[in-house]
Amino acid sequence: MGLGGGIAAYKTLELIRRLREAGASIIPVATEAALQFVTGVTLQALSGTPLRNALFAPLEADGMDHIRLAREADLVIVAPATADLLARMAQGQADDLLTALLLARRGPVLVAPAMNPAMWEHPATRRNVTTLQEDGIHFIGPEPGAMACGESGTGRMAEPATIQESARRILTPKILAGRRLLITAGPTREELDPVRFISNHSSGKMGWELTLAALRAGAQVELIHGPVTLPPPMGALLHPVTSACQMLDATLNAWLGTANGPRCDAAILTAAVADYRPEQRQHDKIKKTDATSAPHLTLTQNPDILAMLSAWSGVRPRDGRPRVIVGFAAETGDALARGHAKRIRKGCDLLAINDVTAPGCGFGTDTNGVTLIGRDGREEVWPLQSKERVAERLIAAVAELVSHPRSL
Ligand code: CTP
Repeated sequence: MGLGGGIAAYKTLELIRRLREAGASIIPVATEAALQFVTGVTLQALSGTPLRNALFAPLEADGMDHIRLAREADLVIVAPATADLLARMAQGQADDLLTALLLARRGPVLVAPAMNPAMWEHPATRRNVTTLQEDGIHFIGPEPGAMACGESGTGRMAEPATIQESARRILTPKILAGRRLLITAGPTREELDPVRFISNHSSGKMGWELTLAALRAGAQVELIHGPVTLPPPMGALLHPVTSACQMLDATLNAWLGTANGPRCDAAILTAAVADYRPEQRQHDKIKKTDATSAPHLTLTQNPDILAMLSAWSGVRPRDGRPRVIVGFAAETGDALARGHAKRIRKGCDLLAINDVTAPGCGFGTDTNGVTLIGRDGREEVWPLQSKERVAERLIAAVAELVSHPRSL
């Protein structure tokens, strides 16, 4: 973790904490200027590793710290990267430990710039950024917003969570490179009148985790989602919808390909689509007519998006590229038997069944336990684990199926 001398260095402390929590080991390397903003003691305490900041450290017997650090790290992150640090990197200077190790580095480097907006927009910085991008350096941010200097514009360092996600994407093997995935997530809302609707408890978390896992694996993702309160996953193509009928339109468009984008290679439908909608949406708010009576609602069935997708195109397209369709089933009671019947009824390649009444499974939780059923009826049980881990495993299964259709 290389730190340049900018006020955003305080956010790097949070980044170090988050990365350590996620299992990374961190070696902090600070420029002299960085130590005007954070102390070596703080960096050492948070990272659990002594700070490195001297090119010629007396404790290093062979004086080769810059080479060792450059080689041993899986990833070098520079946060904050000041205008001066970017200029020195672009020039290939090596006059302190951080720039020397960056020059000796062969593996990935992620840079999170932070500076005054005028400095970021200056032609000199633009040139340096272009040079570094051509050299294969990854950039995250800066973001627009209010600056410590009182101005506002683009120059704020990306948030620690964003830098962490960017680091994960760089480090994740690209098993879905060149593939396009369609994911549906969240609930749908079926309006009764301008103020009321029928919906369900879906939070969208499973679809979100799948989107992140697919993006990390190098896929392009079209995320079609109902009303949720989750932050948009960086880099996904978002299609917000409200009702089941809108979700059907958006899903078919993405699956078949339109002027806006090519066809998708796989679809994972996690959305909790409302099965019914009011036969008629009232134009005006439904009013109480007296003190006791209640209106009778007539409902009609919504289209089954998963069944239509499976029936529409099958898994063997004309261009020979295999396509994979995965459904999710929320079950209560005899989940497995119902799951097998549902997979056949809906015609999908894989069905991930979860018993929403089991502890830790289902709506709004961060964990899930699923049983995966394939076309051949084989069952694979994934015991309770984080939705993030379920997503990672399912994405690996989908990557396998789109590459080796015979295993369907
Ligand atoms: N699904 C869909 N369109 C619908 C209903 C469900 O695409 N109108 C998809 C879901 O996104 C999920 C799968 O079908 O991938 C199973 O959803 P589930 O709610 O378990 O199935 P239902 O069809 O609602 O069956 P039932 O109510 O009988 O359990």
